[in-house]
Amino acid sequence: MDEKLVPEDLRKAYSAKAILDLEKEFVIPGVTHYYENPLLLVHGEGATLEDSTGRKFIDLFAGICTTITGYTHPKFVATLQWQIERLVYTSSLYATVPYAVLSKRLAEVAPPDLTQSFIVNSGSEANESALFMARKFTNNPYIIACTHAYHGRTALARELSSAGWRTVPEAHPPGVRFQPYGYCYRCPFGKEYPECDVQCARYLREIIRTQTNKAIAAFIVEPIQGVGGIIQPPPEFFQITHEIVKEFGGLYISDEVQTGFGRTGDKWWGIQHTGVIPDIITMAKGFGSGVPIGGFLTHPKYAEKYTTTDSFATFGGNPLSCAAAIAVLDIIQEGNYLQRAMEHGTYLKKLLKALKEEHKIVGEVRGQGMMLGIELVRNQTTKEPATQEMLQVMELCKNEGLLIGKGGIDGNAIRIQPPLELTKEQMDQAYQILDKAFTIVEKNL
Ligand SMILES: Cc1ncc(COP(=O)(O)O)c(C=O)c1O
Repeated sequence: MDEKLVPEDLRKAYSAKAILDLEKEFVIPGVTHYYENPLLLVHGEGATLEDSTGRKFIDLFAGICTTITGYTHPKFVATLQWQIERLVYTSSLYATVPYAVLSKRLAEVAPPDLTQSFIVNSGSEANESALFMARKFTNNPYIIACTHAYHGRTALARELSSAGWRTVPEAHPPGVRFQPYGYCYRCPFGKEYPECDVQCARYLREIIRTQTNKAIAAFIVEPIQGVGGIIQPPPEFFQITHEIVKEFGGLYISDEVQTGFGRTGDKWWGIQHTGVIPDIITMAKGFGSGVPIGGFLTHPKYAEKYTTTDSFATFGGNPLSCAAAIAVLDIIQEGNYLQRAMEHGTYLKKLLKALKEEHKIVGEVRGQGMMLGIELVRNQTTKEPATQEMLQVMELCKNEGLLIGKGGIDGNAIRIQPPLELTKEQMDQAYQILDKAFTIVEKNL
């Protein structure tokens, strides 16, 4: 490659300080970064990231649960390069090879009958589109979402997300109702599983009967909540809510923006671990492993309702993003990533459970596959969220070369959602670093 063709500004070796100064002057203040001294990342390989000083970090967060095939995977790079040299963009007003081939490839890995795909740009847009279709199909306005959920940043998606993610008074889009999520560690009914008989799930009937016209358009749920703090309800939560949703004529939407593409191990989609077959799956993040793309999968009878005007989006289904997603599917299949996510996840969860035995700050370890979480508490009995301590743990880990994510309505849950390329050696190192960080932070509890 002739480097001189690349703008000089991109070739320059900037310092973190110089870039942060630029941001301070020209980027809106709401765009903030992790860490007291934010990292300036310049390169990645596998599950390792490198900053502008050449320091390397084990990446347990994949941006935000996104770079599922890691960084600079040769097949990913080669596919993008191949497509860039041919056709970066045209709209869906014209047929392209990547859109059609990607849709066929998605149908091959989708749950039974979800053969129709619609490709957009992000998870928020995927959810908006799926909900629009559900409302159109059912001719009903009511949507039920779960407490602690996160479904995106557009108006409706934000309304469906836990109130904790809202920061300003805003007009509420109508027709949204809330269902308690199966958050057993902090059960909203004060019960214990399994004696509770999954009361939280059964409560859905009460909500529909008393807060809707006794019919709904859709129920939208994450198989494991990501932003909410890696919360995983028992499988019956999904079976019971599915039964009730069907009783009242709604479509069951599994938001797989975080759980999709093998992250939960062994299966392509998180919902497949519960025995429920949803009507719609929404996806993004790992879908393009960093190249922006979202979409949904559904049954032909629902897809029929979508008209040309409903489906138009300038960038939706563009050849470059679709080519990236095809490479992601190839890499996952050729690398046996579904199995790897399960095996590695089981190994890592065992290490995290060992940390729970050693450390009083660890309230609960949860999740499965490569979607694991540790909820930190100041006190095991009161379960007071260790919000400040979480920030200290993040700083300490970063200083030792480990990047972790943060979640939960109180910001006290460690999120572990790494590239599936993460190695066993990296997991062992991560365990050592977390162990050390917890030991230091616990001294002040
Ligand atoms: C479960 C879930 N759904 C939807 C979204 C929104 O996706 P995007 O940020 O691509 O709009 C997110 C983002 O974090 C998510 O976690």
